Amino acid sequence: MGKIRVLDPQTVNEIAAGEVIERPASVVKELIENSIDAGALNVRVRIEEGGARRIEVIDDGEGMSREDALLAIRRHATSKLTTISDLNRLSTYGFRGEALASIVSVSRVTIRTRRKEEPVGSQVVSEFGAEPSVSDIGAPPGTTVIVEGLFANVPARRKHLSSDKAETAHVQDVVVRYAIAHPEISFDLESDGRELLSFRGPDRVSRLAELIGPRAAKRVVEFSKSINDEIEIIGALTKIDVTRSSPSSIYLFVNKRPVSSPLLLSAIADGYGTRLMRGRYPIGYLMIELSPEEIDVNVHPTKREVRFSNPEKIRESIVHAIDEAFRGTEMTPSLGDLMEYTKVGEIPADIEPAVDMRRTQSEIVVDEKEEAPSPPLIPLFQLFNTYIVAQGSGDSIVILDQHAAAERITYERILESLKEGARISQRLLSPVILELTSAERSALEENMEHLGSLGFEVEEFGGGSYRLVGVPVVLGAEQGERALRSVLDDLSKASRRRPLGEELIWKVACHGSIRANEPLTKHQMSVLISDLFKTSNPYTCEHGRPTMISLSRGDFERLFKRRL
Ligand SMILES: Nc1ncnc2c1ncn2[C@@H]1O[C@H](COP(=O)(O)OP(=O)(O)O)[C@@H](O)[C@H]1O
Ligand SMILES: [Mg+2]
Repeated sequence: MGKIRVLDPQTVNEIAAGEVIERPASVVKELIENSIDAGALNVRVRIEEGGARRIEVIDDGEGMSREDALLAIRRHATSKLTTISDLNRLSTYGFRGEALASIVSVSRVTIRTRRKEEPVGSQVVSEFGAEPSVSDIGAPPGTTVIVEGLFANVPARRKHLSSDKAETAHVQDVVVRYAIAHPEISFDLESDGRELLSFRGPDRVSRLAELIGPRAAKRVVEFSKSINDEIEIIGALTKIDVTRSSPSSIYLFVNKRPVSSPLLLSAIADGYGTRLMRGRYPIGYLMIELSPEEIDVNVHPTKREVRFSNPEKIRESIVHAIDEAFRGTEMTPSLGDLMEYTKVGEIPADIEPAVDMRRTQSEIVVDEKEEAPSPPLIPLFQLFNTYIVAQGSGDSIVILDQHAAAERITYERILESLKEGARISQRLLSPVILELTSAERSALEENMEHLGSLGFEVEEFGGGSYRLVGVPVVLGAEQGERALRSVLDDLSKASRRRPLGEELIWKVACHGSIRANEPLTKHQMSVLISDLFKTSNPYTCEHGRPTMISLSRGDFERLFKRRL
């Protein structure tokens, strides 16, 4: 008795049906999933001409009997699901029983398969959905599926395929995702006879290193968190100096299924919070494991989207896990690293999001990273009245952006004062009359309440003039007055006079802090540095700009080409 059953029509109707095959990469995805479901430990993918000409996926999984191999290509024939109630307990990738049937309808498919316990294997060949032919064949245990001439019978679809190079990149991306999800399985990808990817390492970070290079991989922070034994969060993401302009190198998984999820991406961004510059994305992976009952994978035919039954809880857990992972983690980028990483970012747009491993590796120098500096930093001198050059621990020089550093300090002090609910405003000994332009006046009126909540007390003084009677305690009289004037000037020129959410706090922090082009004494520099290291994240300002970079002895040696 075979394992595969044809689903009854009612169950079929309840499964979101749809065309699953769009391009070679979708074929590769379905075949890889079948191999994983079959318990394979080695999966080899070979493609020709981007997969349009030929795709071959070879596994060493459990194989199929002759009877099952014939059933496998029938629509809604699956060994993984019997009734709809099984859907909630799914631990396999497949369940619709339609992938092979769909592939068979648009290509010539050859399946060679043998179960370990059977002496001979079977070969099933079907062309464009026609009656299959079957024969005995000698074959190693496991299954090989060959797909040739994809869409040869649907010229409109075939025409829609992109260049071989672009299709290859899509295939690469698929292989990368499953290789990261399943470090226990080895994966290879060969394209037109050339080895493109080879993942054999037993852990995820080493697989990531194959993609982004060992230097960048060293900037990865690993974390894992389990919430009430219900949600498991496992991830590895780069520190803030290794980022890209798109989220295409963040690999997301839910129960080992590669997914795309705006919810998870925004949770990651919130986990980094102000550490990450806006518009920049880290590199790495995030895996969520939870009871299959908590998710619905049946949303989209290609199963890339998931629906959580409790999205808010998932979000919160991720934010916490990431925030915790990066709290107290040293983040200072070194100049040498920054130069290396720009190369990682230079992957040509047309092969995004896959990364050509060879190219990246040959460009990136494997090197022991010198320890990045942490306090104490001893200020040496000021550069251009804007940067503080300091001696770091070990053989390093640290250069701080005095404004970015001061902004981080002020920003956190303002937040702190708001949280404590303590006195946030300090009365001025003598009120200051504010001479305002009409635009500044309306900016003030529109933001009066919000400014008041931050500690600015402004009173109408008659005749359309105003006087400042109180300033935020954290700024003090002089800085407070200066900050308000600059904020109003700023707002009066902005396209949106009423800033949203935290933006007003950012503006106040910006204008209430030591600026660039401001000479500082040694003492002021020391105070700034020691205050900076008391903040929750000394390494970036609240917009995510770096507050400091470090230059190690090794960086100097590379810059002067003493060492390559
Ligand atoms: N590589 C493989 N090894 C063993 N069995 C396979 C393999 N690929 C497909 N099968 C069998 O064929 C059936 C149909 O596959 P498919 O059309 O992808 O549907 P599904 O994966 O949703 O069940 C599977 O349920 C499985 O029993
Ligand atoms: Mg399948």
